[in-house]
Amino acid sequence: MVRSRAETGSIVRLVGNTPLIRIRLFEAEFPELEVYAKAEWFNPGGSVKDRAALAMVEDGERTGALTPDKVIIDSTSGNTGIAYAMVGAAKGYHVQLVMPENVSGERKSLVEAYGAEITLRDAMEGPDGAIRLCRQLNAEDPDRYFYPDQYSNPANWRAHYDGTAVEILEQTDGRITHFVAGLGTTGTFVGTTRRLKERDRSICCVAVQPDDAFHGLEGLKHLPSSIVPKIWDPSVGDALWGAPTEAAYDLARAVARKEGLLVGHSSGAALWGVRRLAESGVTGGVVVTVFPDGGDRYLSTGLYKHRRR
Ligand SMILES: Cc1ncc(COP(=O)(O)O)c(C=O)c1O
Repeated sequence: MVRSRAETGSIVRLVGNTPLIRIRLFEAEFPELEVYAKAEWFNPGGSVKDRAALAMVEDGERTGALTPDKVIIDSTSGNTGIAYAMVGAAKGYHVQLVMPENVSGERKSLVEAYGAEITLRDAMEGPDGAIRLCRQLNAEDPDRYFYPDQYSNPANWRAHYDGTAVEILEQTDGRITHFVAGLGTTGTFVGTTRRLKERDRSICCVAVQPDDAFHGLEGLKHLPSSIVPKIWDPSVGDALWGAPTEAAYDLARAVARKEGLLVGHSSGAALWGVRRLAESGVTGGVVVTVFPDGGDRYLSTGLYKHRRR
């Protein structure tokens, strides 16, 4: 995308309007299937979560819940934290993030680089332990904090209803037939699917979660073993599939090596959903998925280290 003029406003004005990239990984096997991915690492904070974080902060400003003296606090597995830290720095808010201690080193360093404060929680408790601690801190001193609570805040899914979905409809000239996205807070899937279904009920929307509680798909949630996000609406989509970790990793590596797209684990899970769609008989149409972030933030996790192909 070429921006023809110098950007004179804040960095947050560059959130959204990400490119839609053609994916050719399955072309030999399914030549009639057009696959596209929203390249969300083009957001200024490097992930899809810039959209939700900005929407929730600006909603807080609008309603008066967020004032300049307040600290933005939330629990996050990483990307939302980086997004809050970026938005907070650009808008002049202090940001405090509660995360599980096993979150990747790159993510912690990024958050600190933006000047945010990190409170770590025992990794054994997973993301839910961070959520519980964050709720407790906010309950103890509610006047000090603005707690957007990405799992319960409608501004999260609305960012995708007003942004991601509208962009997809425009970028495909309304030709989209299938949508596939991973579930974390569920905001991306719920918001995008709601808008797509309003436009055309026949657009088939598939959600992807890890297939097991002990998975390696950072950013995604295994709903049966987690605190289910309040914004999750199981009636919104057409199917909910469980992606195996290793198969998702293989696809993340494949798309890096065969298409030059360095993506994170959850993009591999999204691609697994696209391939399962094709294998289940959807061999034609226009499938759009979301690549939530780039692979450079996961180099230390070993995602790209082994299995050279
Ligand atoms: C890497 C990654 N992928 C996918 C998601 C899921 O997005 P959502 O929270 O909108 O469901 C997240 C959310 O944090 C994420 O960090």
